[in-house]
Amino acid sequence: NFLTEGSISWQSPSNIALVKYWGKYGEQLPKNASISFTLSNCHTKTTLSYKKIKPSEGFHFEVYLDGKREKDFEPKIQKFFERIEKYVPFLKEYEFKIETSNSFPHSSGIASSASGMSALALCLTQLERSLSGAEGTETEEKASFLARLGSGSACRSIEGPLIVWGEHPDIYGSSNLFGTKYPFEVHDTFKNYQDTILLVDKGEKQVSSTVGHNLMHDHPFAKQRFQQANNNLSKLIPVLREGDISEFIKIVESEALSLHAMMMTSMPYFILMKPNTLEIINRIWNFRKETGSNVCFTLDAGANVHVLYPEAEKENVSTFIETDLKPFCKNGEYIHDHTGDGAAAL
Ligand code: PMV
Repeated sequence: NFLTEGSISWQSPSNIALVKYWGKYGEQLPKNASISFTLSNCHTKTTLSYKKIKPSEGFHFEVYLDGKREKDFEPKIQKFFERIEKYVPFLKEYEFKIETSNSFPHSSGIASSASGMSALALCLTQLERSLSGAEGTETEEKASFLARLGSGSACRSIEGPLIVWGEHPDIYGSSNLFGTKYPFEVHDTFKNYQDTILLVDKGEKQVSSTVGHNLMHDHPFAKQRFQQANNNLSKLIPVLREGDISEFIKIVESEALSLHAMMMTSMPYFILMKPNTLEIINRIWNFRKETGSNVCFTLDAGANVHVLYPEAEKENVSTFIETDLKPFCKNGEYIHDHTGDGAAAL
C-alpha cells in the first residue's frame, strides 16, 4: 500500500505513578513493575503530517510547539525515531511535520514526555495501520510499545484509568514491553480519583530522568528498591479492591519518598525536592491529622507535588489547597486533574 500525504491527530494524557518506575535495562525495559493513574486535563495534542519522499531525498522531520518551530525537541525525537525504526520500517519513506501543543503551561515542570511521546506513537501506529489496510485490534499494544521507546512512562498513557507496566507475577498479562490495563476489581473509592498538581518549581531539572535511571545501575540499594516496588504493587491489589484508603496512602507516599531516597543515595547524589515541596508535604500530613481527610501526596522526578484524593473530598480538599497550599506554589499556580480513560483520536 501507498499513501502519498495526509495528516493524523491524537490527544494523549499525562499519567502519575503510584508505584514508581526508576531504573531500566536494555531497550527501555523497566527493572520493576509500576502502576499509574492516567490523567485527563493534562494532555498533549499532536498532528503528524506525512509526505512520501523519493529515496534520494532522505528522511526529514520538523517539530513545532504551539505553532513555532522547536529545534530543541528535535534531538529527542530523532533518537526516538532511531529506536523505533526497526519496528516501523515505513518511517524513512516519509517526511514528517510534527505539530504539538500541551494543555499545561510549557516549562511548568510537568513532564510533557509521557503525553507527547504517547501522542506521537499513536499517530505513527495509525499511519502504519492505514498503510497496511488492517483493522488493527492491537493498536493500543503497538502504540504503547512505541511510546515506551520514546519515554518509558509514556507507555502508561495510551489507556486508562489504571495502567500497569512491567512483568509482575500477580498481574496476568503484564509485560515489560508495553503498558496493560489493570485487570482486577477497583473499589468505587478509587474511581475518578482527583490529582491536583502543585507547581512548586518550574525551572529546568538539574538532573534528567535519563541520568537518574542510569544511576540505578551501580546503586547500593537497587536490588532492594526493585523488590520493594514489586511488593508494593502486590500489596495494592487488595487495597484497590477493598477501597482501603489508609493502606493506599501508606503505599503511595512511601513510594514517592523511596523514589527520592534513591536520588539522594545515588553517586553522584542529587535532590529534586525544594523547600516548598517539604512544606507542602508537612501541611498535607497536618491536615490529614486534624481533619481525618484522606488526602495524600506523590511526587515524580521533580519538585512539584501531586495531591491525590477521592472525588468525595473534592470540595474540602480544594479549599485546603486554595488557602493552605497555594502560597507555596510558584506564582500560586496549580492544576486540577483527575483520572481518565486515555488517549483519543482527534
Ligand atoms: O519515563 P521517564 O524515563 O521520564 O521516567 C519517569 C519516572 C518517574 O516519573 C519518576 C516515575 C514513573 O513511574 O512515572
